[in-house]
Amino acid sequence: MKRGLLWKLYAIVGVGTVVLLYLLSFLSAYTQERMSYLSEAHQQQLDAYAQQAQRLYLADDSDGLAQWLTHIQQTENTWAAVVKSDLDALAGGELNDYFYQYYGIGRGIQWKLHPWMDQPMMEIDFIDPNVHFLIALPERMRPGIFEYLELTHWAMKIILPLVLLLAIALLLYRHISAPLRQLNDATRAFSHGRFEVRVRKLMGNRSDEFTELAMTFDKMAERISELITSQRQLIADLSHELRTPLARLDIALEKLKIGEAVDHDNAVARVERESVEIRKLVEDTLTLAWLENERPALQEEDLDLVDLIDVVIDDARFEFPDRTIETQLPDRAPLPKSNHRALGQALENIVRNGMRYTPAGATLEVSLSVNSNSYQIDIKDQGPGVLEEHLEKIFQPFYRVDNARSGDDSGFGLGLALAKRQVLAIGGEIQANNRLPKGLMMTISLPRPANQ
Ligand SMILES: Nc1ncnc2c1ncn2[C@@H]1O[C@H](COP(=O)(O)OP(=O)(O)OP(=O)(O)O)[C@@H](O)[C@H]1O
Ligand SMILES: [Mg+2]
Repeated sequence: MKRGLLWKLYAIVGVGTVVLLYLLSFLSAYTQERMSYLSEAHQQQLDAYAQQAQRLYLADDSDGLAQWLTHIQQTENTWAAVVKSDLDALAGGELNDYFYQYYGIGRGIQWKLHPWMDQPMMEIDFIDPNVHFLIALPERMRPGIFEYLELTHWAMKIILPLVLLLAIALLLYRHISAPLRQLNDATRAFSHGRFEVRVRKLMGNRSDEFTELAMTFDKMAERISELITSQRQLIADLSHELRTPLARLDIALEKLKIGEAVDHDNAVARVERESVEIRKLVEDTLTLAWLENERPALQEEDLDLVDLIDVVIDDARFEFPDRTIETQLPDRAPLPKSNHRALGQALENIVRNGMRYTPAGATLEVSLSVNSNSYQIDIKDQGPGVLEEHLEKIFQPFYRVDNARSGDDSGFGLGLALAKRQVLAIGGEIQANNRLPKGLMMTISLPRPANQ
């Protein structure tokens, strides 16, 4: 069995999980990064404060500078100062640009802030790198990292995975529920008598366990609808066929009631004949219905085909003494795992048909040839044959070609239908072909084990 569904589910879950993990790590890094810097506007604001302080400092306006610093401290509710640092290396290397870029009294306004810093000290250097504007970061300028870090962690760890998993689950659900719904609808429609309903074509290009199930459903639907149609037809045909013998039975009984002595014996004989016919009709139809319904495998006993054909031919010779039967049979033809009764009846029906259509004095030929893996029985008569367009149909129940036979001799059209299903039940095949110049040849092929 293909494992299409397994791979599809694996693809959805696998790709979904990888995307989830990637998104999680990307988003958490990204948001943390975004939340760790002062916003552009706040950077400009702090820079503007520093510029103003520098202007006052360069103008030597220490009162103005002090006032202005007090003003900022009040408005921003923080601490601010201009400090001088005299950083001279006493020994070792000079303090170079690298030092001034990465180290300072406070943090540069473009530097990254960390959640463990409570109120970071921000530093903006004046033109003279030893003079610095320092300001404790005003509360209103704190970046998101201080307030939202916790919340983002929860969002990343719980909400985002839940949302993504929901998306994966929905995808899986859609993938599985769509064919299930189609199957469910079809089963319901079928159970309401819409036997023409099929599912496979509704599933389009899909190919997995569900399409296999759909094909099995379609096969089942096909078989059951065929069965129901044929059974309905069989019942309709049977009741139709029963009418004639029942009508004749009624007439005979009527005659018996009236009690006309002359007709008495005739009427009794008629009643007997009709009851035999009705029984045969009912039994044949039931056997046919059984063979169609159950499609039994009747391969249960070993037999010798030559013996079986001999018995059938003996009976036929007795029944039709004015026709000749010519045979071409080997000494023996062992046939394992077959069915005496089914094959016997099928042969009997075919030989009897042949004898009926063969004119008096003419010959019916029966031959059995042994092939490497099959037996072939040919029954050739000298009757009128069957028009090509009827050759297939004569195997349908109650199908009769309108020809020579008439009156009491006309059968019900069940013989070949039964024969075909009986031969099928033992694994064989049956075919009808016309002969030249005239006559019909029935061919039965039966599988034969190579070593027999
Ligand atoms: N050997 C044959 N030659 C010509 N027509 C045949 C021959 N065998 C069968 N048929 C045609 O096929 C029809 C079906 O045959 P089938 O044996 O099923 O029914 P039947 O012989 O009419 O009735 P039943 O067998 O039920 O008594 C026959 O009615 C007949 O028209
Ligand atoms: Mg017949």
